[in-house]
Amino acid sequence: MLGLLHARVLASCGALCHFPLQRIKIAHLGPNERAPSMKFFVDTAEIDDIKELASTGLLDGVTTNPSLIHKSGRDFMEVTKEICGLTDGPVSAEVVALDHETMMKEAEVLRKIADNVCIKVPLTVDGLKTCKALTSEGTMVNVTLCFSANQALLAAKAGATFISPFVGRHDDNGFDGMDLIEDIRLIYDNYLYDTEILVASIRHTTHILESAKIGADVITAPPKVIMGLFKHVLTDKGIEAFMADWAKTGQSIL
Ligand code: G3P
Repeated sequence: MLGLLHARVLASCGALCHFPLQRIKIAHLGPNERAPSMKFFVDTAEIDDIKELASTGLLDGVTTNPSLIHKSGRDFMEVTKEICGLTDGPVSAEVVALDHETMMKEAEVLRKIADNVCIKVPLTVDGLKTCKALTSEGTMVNVTLCFSANQALLAAKAGATFISPFVGRHDDNGFDGMDLIEDIRLIYDNYLYDTEILVASIRHTTHILESAKIGADVITAPPKVIMGLFKHVLTDKGIEAFMADWAKTGQSIL
């Protein structure tokens, strides 16, 4: 069923322009079936931020990388274990070896941290060999540093649980990161790949909006960007006006 649930394509004129009709595959949803909800992961190793987002009940997982671990100043194993205790969802922990054999050894250590550890591997030949080996053993794998739809195709063939295309870094280099997400969505739907598109390197809330319109399965974003989704100037203004008028009534609910 996954990968087939993108009937939203039909509902959006804009999206149709990019999706030739003959390529659209429509879900055959049963009466009690629903499209899966978009998942929200936070891209950080800062415990306080993860706790704050987890308390909203809207957090589905966490992604980390060596740069975020460095930024946290924490011990990798220790902080990863702590993060795994804050969410039931997948927590991506990245291997740092570049060869398959050592990647497997590192993955062995990392997956012992907790059941919800998802091993993150780079999109290289050795990374995909590792991906295939780990997923065939039932371990979740997030393939990171994806910058082309062909790379995403390879990751799906290697059985990746998640593919992480980096939209922000793509934009930074003069490409349109969201075009990449559309291409991957189309390819995965064409072949019914179960690999989930995890939009990474998100810089702003518009990246999240576009991801939802395209039908990406997951987004991972810095805490500030996720918190930004809650905000609207008219919501603040509206609350202010309601509070002022409520005060004038002299009443209280409790
Ligand atoms: O975790 C991978 C990705 O989200 C990194 O983003 O901002 O360093 O390009 P960024």
